[in-house]
Order: sequence, then C-alpha cells, then structure tokens
Amino acid sequence: MTHKKFYLHCTKCGYDVPDFKEWFQHMQKCPKCGCTIVDVKYTADLKSIKNLMQDESKEANSVWRYFDFLPLNDKANIISRGEGSIPLEQWAFLEKYAFEKYKLSIKVHAYRNDLNQGTGTFKDVAAAVAASVLKENGVKEYCVPSTGNIANAFAHYMAEAGISLSVFIPSDALMANEAEVNSYGQRIYRVNGDYAMAKKIAAEYSAKYGILMSGGNTDPMRVEAKKTMVFEWLRQIGEVPNVYVQALSGGTGPIAIEKAYKELAGLGLVDKMPRFIMVQASGCAPMTHGWVKAKKEGFPEGWLTSYPIYDNPKTSVPTLATGKPGTYPIIAKLVKDTNGEIIEFNEAYLVDIARLIAFETTVRIGPAAAIAVGGFFESLHAGHIKNGDKVLLNIGEGVRRAPDFVEEMIYTTKHIDSIDDCTRFDRN
Ligand SMILES: Cc1ncc(COP(=O)(O)O)c(C=O)c1O
Ligand SMILES: [Zn+2]
Repeated sequence: MTHKKFYLHCTKCGYDVPDFKEWFQHMQKCPKCGCTIVDVKYTADLKSIKNLMQDESKEANSVWRYFDFLPLNDKANIISRGEGSIPLEQWAFLEKYAFEKYKLSIKVHAYRNDLNQGTGTFKDVAAAVAASVLKENGVKEYCVPSTGNIANAFAHYMAEAGISLSVFIPSDALMANEAEVNSYGQRIYRVNGDYAMAKKIAAEYSAKYGILMSGGNTDPMRVEAKKTMVFEWLRQIGEVPNVYVQALSGGTGPIAIEKAYKELAGLGLVDKMPRFIMVQASGCAPMTHGWVKAKKEGFPEGWLTSYPIYDNPKTSVPTLATGKPGTYPIIAKLVKDTNGEIIEFNEAYLVDIARLIAFETTVRIGPAAAIAVGGFFESLHAGHIKNGDKVLLNIGEGVRRAPDFVEEMIYTTKHIDSIDDCTRFDRN
C-alpha cells in the first residue's frame, strides 16, 4: 500500500481527510462532523528534519526547505520568493538595557520578517504555502478577509500562482495595503465597517459563489507554513528561546508554534513551549482585557469564553484590529499553559519605538512590529521577563508596509535658509 505524504486529521471526530481535494470539496469542513480545525499529519519520518536543517543547497533557501513537512505533493507547484529563510539577529543593545536598568542577564534575538522578499511581513510564508497548495489543487478563485498584511501577501503570491483573489478589508485598513493589492490586479472590497464585518461579508461571498475563503488563524495552510519558524530557530541558533514575544491580532503565530512542538515532540530537539508574551495595541486589546480580568478573578470556570468584543475599534495599527477575537479560547489557553501573558502597549509610543530601533540597529520596523518591541519593554517593566531568559522578539513587518508611519518618524529635519543656519552634526 502506498502511503500518502500527508493527510488532514479532524481534531473533533478523528476522521482522516485524505487530501486537500476532499477538504476543499467540503468547503474546508470535516466531511463527517463539520469541524473546521484539522491537524496535518505527515508520513515522513520526522527524524529527517535534522538533515533538512543541514541542507546547504540554494533550493533550501525558503520555507520550502521543509517541503517534506509542508502539505504539498509536487515541487513543481511551489510558489516562492525566498520567504521564511530570514535571519535571527542578536540585539545586544536590548540585552544591555535589561541588565543596566533591571539587573537581568538575558539574551534577545529578533526574528527579521521584514526581510521576507514577498511583502516584508511574516504573512509571506503563509501566502507562499497557501498559493502553492491552491495551485496544486486547481483552485482558480479565492477570497480572504484581512486587516491588511495577509491581504498584501496573498495578493502577491496568488497573482504568481495565477489565482484571482478577492480581498475584504475593513474601512480603516491602510491605503498602502489597498494600493498594494490593487497593484497586483487583485480585487479589493473595502467594507463599510470593521474587520468582523469584513469577515462576515467575505463568508457570504464565499457561500454565494462557492469560492473558497481562507480559514483564518486555524487554516491548516497558514498554520503549517508558520510552524516552520520554530524549525528555523532551531536551525539557526540550535535551540528554541524560552520566551516568545509577538504582536497579537488573531493568534496564528502561537497556534503554529504549538503545532511545531507537537511535531518535534519525542525528537529531543525541544523541551517545553516558550512562554507566550502576546502584545495587543492599546486601541484594540480585547484579548488583553479578557485575560487581565480572568487573572484578577483567579481564572474562574468559563473564563476562556469570557472576553469583550469591540465594534469598530479605534486604533492606529489597523493591521492588528481584531475587535472580535473568536480565537481567544485557543490563545488564552496556550498563554496560560505556558505561563505567559497577554498585555497591551500604548500606541502613543510606537513612533518612538520605531525611531529607537532604527537608530540602534538601522532596522526599520512597521507599527505592528513596534507593538511587539514595545511589549518587550513593558514586559521588562512588569517583571514578565526573568533573569536568564532567552527572548525571541518577532519583528513581524518592516516599515515598507506603512509609508505614513515612516513620515511620522521624521525628527532630525531643520528648515534652513542659508549656511548660517547649519551647525555640525553628531548622530549620538
Ligand atoms: C506584522 C504583524 N505582526 C503580528 C500580527 C498578528 O498575527 P497573529 O495574531 O495572527 O499571530 C500580524 C497580523 O496581521 C502582523 O501583520
Ligand atoms: Zn470530524
């Protein structure tokens, strides 16, 4: 009997969906029980992952290094722009700061998603895998609701795959996002309402025309793609940091990390999951507010389903504006299980954070990434980071995503009329 490379295992009834054909035929629901959450299982021996990590070939320079553990059958269908193969950089100035201000000896690594070549965000790996899988399965039309970054990444990679994409963005999504999706010739529907409304209309569009819609934060294509970040950390620094800091919208990041841990369990490569420190923007922090309340009340019965919903949240980081966080029960449980935290960062300081990072490193980060970096400072201050911690800071996007934000970073300009107005300059 020939074994398939992978199959989709229903997390509710245990039915094994043999392939994406069947999964897509049933509009991404388990044909037996209707559940929308599946675990992708592979028949390859996971021990081979160590060999994949050592592969020096040019072909291995993308998320597709891990082809054996991604849900695609034929390499001919790969769509790629070198995404995923991005560096982890040690940011010594943050280590120095933690030591001088808090007497903490820690290590800090920044995960440089801004260097992804598709759109410069950590959505590129998800888009590369989704576009390839959809191409392999003959999908020609697709749709996705998005706060911005998934929109861009999907628009780019789907265009390469010859797939027509309809993107539903909320009314406050950045013009730059809208422009970029348009530039690839994909369709934008700017919805008069918030992200929850965009999701609702996208779902109606999907139902009306029978067009597949991205399955959100638990979509197996997205989760499988993002799990490879754990593989990359292992490959690059030989270990997984014990604290993971990321800006939080819907939470695909932590869900994917958990998946990687499930796969790596038993190989002796990883120990326990990192403490998840998830950071929301102060203008849209429903998960933080649910978490803080539950913590204060000692996590009473039913706490996982008790969280606020914010309609039309007012935030300067529209990319993170999930006001109705349906994944809260999953994310909050993961955070609790790892002794992590869900915090918020004051948006008023985002530009300062971005200036500081650019000054110290010459890396220019976008607003959503500044939320994560701000959350790192906040965590130091609140005692969420301990002596000896090894921190992974997910730089989720570069600044190219938000041209208006770059303009806000202007702070050294002097307006002059003549040479008499100029003095010598010391950058420090
Ligand atoms: C740069 C960046 N960071 C973080 C996030 C949050 O990702 P998630 O909550 O799905 O893990 C997003 C989502 O749009 C993002 O674009
Ligand atoms: Zn099922």
